[in-house]
Amino acid sequence: MSKLNALHDLYVEQLKDMYSAEKQLTEALPKMAQAASTPELREAFEMHLRETENHLQQVHTILSELGENPGNKVCKGMQGLVEEGEEVLKQQGRPMARDAALIIAAQKVEHYEIASYGGLRAYARVLGYDAAASTLDEILDQEYEADQMLDDLAEGGILQEGLNEQAA
Ligand SMILES: [Fe+2]
Repeated sequence: MSKLNALHDLYVEQLKDMYSAEKQLTEALPKMAQAASTPELREAFEMHLRETENHLQQVHTILSELGENPGNKVCKGMQGLVEEGEEVLKQQGRPMARDAALIIAAQKVEHYEIASYGGLRAYARVLGYDAAASTLDEILDQEYEADQMLDDLAEGGILQEGLNEQAA
């Protein structure tokens, strides 16, 4: 097998993995949105849910164009991250602490996706799959933005407001 064929196969496997990851996330995000007590955080999850549904379609299209389908590969990395998120959902506690824990869980997910799509985009470029590389670039941008939004929410006041409420 040539090096390029080997890279192509790895690329396809990783795409299937991300299809599974996005699919798991479309199921987890509604629960996270429901659990968020701050409206801004709920909205951020709902917005990213719509983007995630789109990513799922985009990854599906990239696979279809290679004559592949997602199959039933399960992304174990995302499975673990979602399980951690679900632990947060089960915990009782102050709404602010819960929101803070939800933000961290969601950021771990975003960083996992950023690493994965960054790698996939690099493979697509090397393999000369230019259309796919630009789609992956778009997805990557949205993952970065989602991560940034969570950073802003964490640092920009919702947790602070929660602390003030507790002090009052
Ligand atoms: Fe995504």
